[in-house]
Amino acid sequence: MILGIESSCDETAAAVVTRHGRVLSDVVHSQVSLHAEHGGVVPELASRDHLRNIGPVVRQALDAAGVALADLGGIAVTHRPGLVGALLVGVQAAKGLAWAANKPLYGVDHLIGHILSIFLVRGDGANAPATPAFPFIALLVSGGHTALYRVDGPSADRITELGATRDDAAGEAFDKVGKLLGLGYPGGPRIDALAREGDPSAIPFSSPMARRDSLEFSFSGLKTQVAQWVLREGVPTGQRLADVCASFQATVTETLAKKLVRAAVQHEVPRVVIGGGVAANRELRERVRSLAAKSGIEAFVPELASCTDNAAMIAYAGALRADQGPADGWDLLATSATVLPRSTRKGRGIR
Ligand code: KG4
Ligand code: ZN
Repeated sequence: MILGIESSCDETAAAVVTRHGRVLSDVVHSQVSLHAEHGGVVPELASRDHLRNIGPVVRQALDAAGVALADLGGIAVTHRPGLVGALLVGVQAAKGLAWAANKPLYGVDHLIGHILSIFLVRGDGANAPATPAFPFIALLVSGGHTALYRVDGPSADRITELGATRDDAAGEAFDKVGKLLGLGYPGGPRIDALAREGDPSAIPFSSPMARRDSLEFSFSGLKTQVAQWVLREGVPTGQRLADVCASFQATVTETLAKKLVRAAVQHEVPRVVIGGGVAANRELRERVRSLAAKSGIEAFVPELASCTDNAAMIAYAGALRADQGPADGWDLLATSATVLPRSTRKGRGIR
């Protein structure tokens, strides 16, 4: 059993997971209400809130799993990428616990956690998703990152970025459009809910970076299209609001699903996986399933609780690290950048 700790952004989370991915406990303390009045995450407020909550959240995770520190095989913690002040809280807590209990310490890249979240088994396993063999193509769509990867194995050296966003992440686009529409923070889940009642063909937003062979994304132009529409038409309400949400969401999810399947076809890898907060989006989940099926590709979609930030995915990635080599030392650092090499440069495209 591995204890996982996550504090890279605005969730303080801890979980206990077996080395086979069975989730014994999964505690997530969200800071959404703390940041909502500012319309986005305020790093200094995030760090201070992590500090207040890290102890109680870890205690809850251990209690809910019915395990003591002494029972653990190791402690895994997100140490990159993220807000450095926020990451530091989790990293120092993990170091303190590992030192006190004499357990191995495993630093985990948050993005690898998201990519492997498909392997988590929750509850009695009745709703557990089917799991893919390696290699597979992963679409990681979160508030901070949007990229396609070829995943040949669970370690960083076996994961290759095929293309990423040149500007905003998909979740960032949802959140910015949510703000434009007066929906508060975060916009993603609100837009998802409103889009159900809307007409996706009501407003013809154009699809970003549609070029046939491209595996890159760009969402800032689409956000600008929505901003210009709001400037012209005013902030919509009622059915009109639902129509804008549905039209925007259809454009984003169509692009994401198409490029994921395109990557699988180009790389002749017949399995696709999604992960990250936007993978909780109902329309994206449906589109990926149906588009993949049309191309004879198997789609693997994690449970909702595994998509948004959680520590179970960090614990599982840490458990796999235990098989891959030595644990980390006390010099483990919090770092803002991912360990995965980038192929797309921000604002410029493929290297
Ligand atoms: O993975 P995550 O919890 O945190 C990061 O690592 O960034 O992703 C958070 C992002 C936010 O932008 C949020 O608006 C978006 O995921 N999100 C959604 C949905 N649920 C969360 N976007 C669209 N539809 C959803 N249902
Ligand atoms: Zn995340």
